[in-house]
Amino acid sequence: MPIVTLGLRIIPPVSVLVLVASLSSCAKEPRAMIAAEKSPVQPLAFMHDVHFEVNRIPCAYCHFSAAYSEEAGMPSVATCMGCHRFVRGTSQEFGTEIGKLMGFAADSIAIPWARVHSLPDFVQFPHKPHIRAQFDCTICHGDVAGMVQMERVKPLTMGWCLKCHRDEGAPDDCATCHY
Ligand code: HEC
Ligand code: HEC
Ligand code: HEC
Ligand code: HEC
Ligand code: HEC
Repeated sequence: MPIVTLGLRIIPPVSVLVLVASLSSCAKEPRAMIAAEKSPVQPLAFMHDVHFEVNRIPCAYCHFSAAYSEEAGMPSVATCMGCHRFVRGTSQEFGTEIGKLMGFAADSIAIPWARVHSLPDFVQFPHKPHIRAQFDCTICHGDVAGMVQMERVKPLTMGWCLKCHRDEGAPDDCATCHY
């Protein structure tokens, strides 16, 4: 993406128009190529609600880097196997899902989870400043602890980001999120 190199903070308004034009050309791609489905089918039935109800496993146990990094992080198969070496599921149906997990572990393959939240490449969203500003995960991701299947509950549009930035006095110039 050429916009990465534009050095937005110092460019004159004309270049902002170029930015808008180049971003708009990205937008001509079919939306589905950019935005993930609201609740895509996953390679195996991981359930947030079960893991929260059974033993209140903290979010950070699996999404270990949200507080100090851009990305929230995704658990490795080894993280799952730390428990599922012993925990085999409460029914035959769930046992089948855990069987798939063991298959990935045996082959040392990262589980190809489908993205649920996904911004286009020309937008920067770092988790760290938002966690530092003391926002709970639920503000942007909803009641994850009660979800059987992960779903996106917020629109993740520019208007949504900007509304909170303005309400909270966070920066709202273009270069904050597009650089
Ligand atoms: C035992 C591990 C584990 C724990 C604990 C856990 N998650 Fe997850 N999380 C996953 C896995 C695996 C996925 C991918 C599968 C899916 O989307 O359901 C995921 C997906 C997600 C996603 C969607 C990622 C995307 O593709 O956009 C969000 C948001 C999320 N988790 C938030 C949370 C929050 C908030 C908590 C705490 C309430 C939490 N998770 C606790 C394992 C975990
Ligand atoms: C801290 C321990 C722990 C970790 C880590 C963990 N699980 Fe679980 N998981 C459990 C427990 C406890 C259950 C409840 C099933 C039971 O009690 O037999 C469960 C249930 C399940 C079930 C079946 C649901 C059911 O009710 O039987 C699946 C599928 C599953 N986990 C997948 C995963 C995946 C995939 C990961 C890694 C992303 C993961 N788990 C990480 C403890 C864990
Ligand atoms: C201010 C809103 C906001 C808060 C608060 C927030 N997230 Fe996110 N999260 C997002 C957005 C937006 C994305 C999509 C990022 C992208 O596509 O670049 C995302 C993506 C994710 C993903 C997918 C993997 C990744 O890193 O992109 C996971 C997992 C996740 N968030 C977990 C969490 C957890 C756990 C918390 C609480 C510790 C949390 N989030 C707090 C907005 C938020
Ligand atoms: C719930 C309110 C809220 C939402 C929603 C939100 N933000 Fe933020 N954002 C903040 C706050 C508050 C800060 C912290 C500002 C600070 O550290 O002073 C921040 C900081 C940032 C920063 C770092 C700014 C800097 O220069 O330090 C970026 C980049 C950012 N947000 C992008 C986004 C994007 C992109 C979205 C939408 C996908 C989004 N934010 C949604 C409240 C929010
Ligand atoms: C707080 C973060 C944030 C700020 C500040 C921000 N944007 Fe965005 N922008 C986004 C997000 C998120 C998207 C992608 C989602 C969407 O299209 O709504 C986006 C998308 C866009 C698009 C593509 C629209 C489309 O239809 O796909 C353009 C053009 C754009 N921004 C221009 C700007 C300009 C110009 C500014 C400054 C006046 C600006 N943005 C400031 C977050 C931000």
